[in-house]
Amino acid sequence: MLFAATSRASAQASKANIRYNATTRVFRIDTARTSYIMGVNEADQVQNLYWGHRLPNSDEFATAKSMPGAASFDPPITTTPEEYTGWGGMLYVEPSLKVTFPDGNRDLVLKYVSYKIDGDQLSLLMKDISREVYVTLNYRADGEIGILRRSAEVENRTDGPITIEQVSAATWNLPRGTDYRLRYLTGRWAGEWTIQQQPIHPGKTILESRRGTTGAQNNPWFAIDHEGDNDSERGGVWFGALGWSGSWQISIEQDMLQQVRVNGGPNSFDFAYRVAKGGKFQTPEFYAGYSDEGIGGASRLLHRYEIDSILPGAPKPKLRPVLYNSWEATGFDVNEAGQMALAEKAASIGVERFVMDDGWFGQRKDDRAGLGDWYVNPQKFPNGLKPLIDKVHSLNMDFGLWVEPEMVNPDSDLYRKHPDWILNFPGRPHTEGRNQLVLNLARPDVRAYVFGFLDKLLTDNQIAFLKWDYNRNWSEPGWPAVPLDEQKDVYVDFTRNLYSILSELRAKHPSVEIESCSGGGSRVDLGIMRLTDEVWPSDNTDAYDRLLIQNGFTYAYSPGVMMAWVTDSPSWANQRALSLEYRFLSSMQGSLGIGANLNKWAPEDFATARKMIAQYKTIRETVQRGELYRLIAPEHGSEQSVTESVARDGHEAVVFAFLHSSNELYPYPRLHLRGLDPDTQYRINVLDGRLASDTPEHASGAYWMDRGIDVDLQGDFRAMTFRLERINGNQ
Ligand code: GLA
Repeated sequence: MLFAATSRASAQASKANIRYNATTRVFRIDTARTSYIMGVNEADQVQNLYWGHRLPNSDEFATAKSMPGAASFDPPITTTPEEYTGWGGMLYVEPSLKVTFPDGNRDLVLKYVSYKIDGDQLSLLMKDISREVYVTLNYRADGEIGILRRSAEVENRTDGPITIEQVSAATWNLPRGTDYRLRYLTGRWAGEWTIQQQPIHPGKTILESRRGTTGAQNNPWFAIDHEGDNDSERGGVWFGALGWSGSWQISIEQDMLQQVRVNGGPNSFDFAYRVAKGGKFQTPEFYAGYSDEGIGGASRLLHRYEIDSILPGAPKPKLRPVLYNSWEATGFDVNEAGQMALAEKAASIGVERFVMDDGWFGQRKDDRAGLGDWYVNPQKFPNGLKPLIDKVHSLNMDFGLWVEPEMVNPDSDLYRKHPDWILNFPGRPHTEGRNQLVLNLARPDVRAYVFGFLDKLLTDNQIAFLKWDYNRNWSEPGWPAVPLDEQKDVYVDFTRNLYSILSELRAKHPSVEIESCSGGGSRVDLGIMRLTDEVWPSDNTDAYDRLLIQNGFTYAYSPGVMMAWVTDSPSWANQRALSLEYRFLSSMQGSLGIGANLNKWAPEDFATARKMIAQYKTIRETVQRGELYRLIAPEHGSEQSVTESVARDGHEAVVFAFLHSSNELYPYPRLHLRGLDPDTQYRINVLDGRLASDTPEHASGAYWMDRGIDVDLQGDFRAMTFRLERINGNQ
């Protein structure tokens, strides 16, 4: 049971209900929380009529009528909030689809043809006014969470090829309004996941990656609310996330009549995709939803959707084991004896998975050589990986391994043999990043090589987990081996092959789990998340910086996939010294891992770690699967950061409270919990730290939420955690 303010929502049925009214030509997609309503107007355009809080069935919508134009300059085609537009006629806003025909025609005007309703899926067929280009818009609704999953399929039934130059998975139109505010995520290496906000003014904001991959500069997520809504738990929020791990773009545009629309799909910069006669192009998926519980509610809906519908194993993806990773301890200097020694120490504190990071393969002594040569280095592991894996198993842990499959060092046997396998323009420089080049995964031979070595690695060794890394972005994105008019297909075919390798590997090795890493959090999106169990948010493991990084990350993605390691202090990132307890509590807000050099730990560190890991295991289901409330966000220079996770079944809540720095005798703010049942009794239980001495041992949910809790935190970089447990018989 969820006690959050879902009352209006829970009164409704939890199956999506899709209806068409043939008289008014109105489509309605109703979910427990939302209604999404479209109509076919007099010009046979599909027009959005409403998107927001669930409306009663009795509210009938009149037939759609296109917006009036504005003189001869802005005709209705440009001012009407259409669900999907072709670039043609007098369309001046961002189009959903732009194509070029072999005869030079570039005009495309899409009109509604027909519809199909199949359970929770609605398909609308559109066609160009004269040419045999069809577009099917697909809408799939989650009846409970209200998130819509949209994509489009472009079908070429003309008698020649067509070239797509811009394509959206969906166009989302917001209700007419002039006071919107946009939130989005920005970042860079070791500084990912900064939340930004700005008013939406007339004009266009483009969030994008031109990097060949998702990137950290922007993440393909957005949230829009009304500017005056400053309560993070109240007010309407429209949000969305694009499931695409190649170059992408999301444009947020306020048109000349101050209407806001959002388009998202592969990046149109330098883009072309050739669709042969009779062929089809399927876009990625663009997910969007509406919450009337503020930005906090929007995040929780996305988290639930990721767990229930996106992650491998959904709706019951496996909880993340506590892992150890060797990277920050040993760097490239891995060998059998050293890893075995670390494994013994990791097992002694309760670690469940031991992961050997970079350095185990080819001639990999540093980052200058070896990528591409995926044989076990014979000097470091004279008997292969088996002795280490057996040792790890004997310690009751499973074994994971680092790989970076899409890359090659020029100093490698693979590159010496296949210099033509990289992305390149003939005769132009091969720009290196971290001394490596990008293999062109779009090529069938490269795809076969990458799948082949990974399949063999997983077949020959008992590997439970791969950390799949990707440590640079694209340059010189040429594919000279194919005809000129297919060379830009690389933007799509590369990413499709990445997905197909991942899904084929998972099908053949169903127990293997995979982490998406890209020098930190540069490849995190709902596309890769369908095929990977967890992600690495940042190489920055400083436990204070992580509070900010984790805060930004969880706007879009679940703490259940957010790996967080406890590493050494002072941190390499800032030279900041933090207690081991603080570092643990920061990492326990996500999926806990250990990345410290255990060879340097004192006996008391092992004792602390053993205690904290044991505690984490008792709360991890709530942290990884629960409903997250930001009681105090570490934003705008806040000295505090507090999160609360409420178990899905409501039986407990776990709170983490951090203090950056006390000043001027101010007490720590009183914490008002959220998401509890006001009439149920909860017992409070401190896991680490101290509460104010007048805190009762148990009280009602109303007391904890309305009167609140005082914690005893003073000083610099202090942290504590406590839990509230429902007292049985009082539900
Ligand atoms: C990237 C990853 C790190 C580590 C190194 C290894 O930077 O993000 O965690 O695996 O590569 O080279």
